[in-house]
Amino acid sequence: MNTSKQINIIVALIFMSIVATGAYWMWDPDRADRGKEEQLDATLERAAYLFSANCRSCHGDSGEGGSAANRLKVAPPLNRPDLQGKAAAGGEVDNAAKAQAYKLVFNTISCGRIGKSMPTWGQANGGTLNDEQMRQLTTFITEGSAWDEARHFAEEGYPPSGIHGDAEVPFALAQAIGVADTTVKLSGDISALGIGDRLEIDDELLPIEAVDAASGTVTVGRGFGTTQPAAHSLDAKLLKRTIGSGVPAEPPAITQPACGQNLPAGGGGATPTPEAPSATLSITGLGTAFDKANLYGLPGVPLTVTFDNQDAIAHNIAFYNGEDATADVIAGTDIEVGPLVQTLELAALDAGSYFYQCDVHPGLMEGFLVVGEASAAPAAEATPAP
Ligand code: HEC
Repeated sequence: MNTSKQINIIVALIFMSIVATGAYWMWDPDRADRGKEEQLDATLERAAYLFSANCRSCHGDSGEGGSAANRLKVAPPLNRPDLQGKAAAGGEVDNAAKAQAYKLVFNTISCGRIGKSMPTWGQANGGTLNDEQMRQLTTFITEGSAWDEARHFAEEGYPPSGIHGDAEVPFALAQAIGVADTTVKLSGDISALGIGDRLEIDDELLPIEAVDAASGTVTVGRGFGTTQPAAHSLDAKLLKRTIGSGVPAEPPAITQPACGQNLPAGGGGATPTPEAPSATLSITGLGTAFDKANLYGLPGVPLTVTFDNQDAIAHNIAFYNGEDATADVIAGTDIEVGPLVQTLELAALDAGSYFYQCDVHPGLMEGFLVVGEASAAPAAEATPAP
């Protein structure tokens, strides 16, 4: 019969599929962009939630700063243009400055600030946030475009249950509580609760101020943040909210003293005490952090660096001839799984400062080798001779 008709159909089909493929290719880049945008939106929303649950108690509902928000006075505003890589609000984004800000913010969240009331959040350092959550928060702060969402969470409350690190708790109210009660009797094991945690009872947030495990009671504040105090009956729904939030009754314990503290000059971090420069240097890696933010070496002589990797994961230490890892590498140890001790010989260096990092954990394990004469190190002068 009509073989030629069949051929015509086949030709038409082939033609149509070519056209369709072409159209798809033209359309696809848009789709990829849209995908990225959706992903960013999701990241920002999660981060707004995380910020609201963990950070606003000090930094303010929309990052306006503790002083402006009447929260913790010394907590700086985080909605600043410099943290978004801009010279001024509404200005152009400078990508290098933004990358630098990203590092600073991630590192600050992960490590906290020693000696300041900025807690340590990174799980590797004993905190409560995982790397993904810290990346989300860092993106949120360096994008700076979703502060409204954080305010929204603060004002409207949170999605109902269990999301983003909140835990159902294995206990319930043992007694109904009135609007003004600050002692809450709970049934069940309350050993998981601590000062600084919050209970969420129905829609009210109650920061825990004291725990008395023996009597099964906690002392709480009422109507935390923008929530309203209310009476709660025995069948109230209870959630434990993420640790580390709420203005703690005690200064938060910094569980891990060493966490790089590798801030750029003027970054506002704790000032490391300089050691006297030496030709033999030692540094320890523990908890995905170096124990020193700076090493102090003598100029013009070969230096020996001993790196004690106490972690059961892979690290190394590599020195760069500049202020970050984009500079040429001077020398580095092999990446090896610890615990083990590595030794590295550095040829004589001129006075100056040289960046170092663990190449496996850039942004988390880094610092500067400061090469100079003893008199250049302020602490050496201040230390009385023995
Ligand atoms: C208990 C109060 C408190 C909480 C909670 C808190 N911070 Fe902070 N934060 C501070 C203080 C105080 C500083 C200033 C530290 C300093 O002076 O070096 C700070 C500094 C920072 C900085 C550095 C800003 C800069 O310009 O150098 C960032 C970023 C930051 N906090 C983010 C967060 C995030 C994100 C959270 C929530 C996961 C959070 N903070 C929770 C008190 C807090």
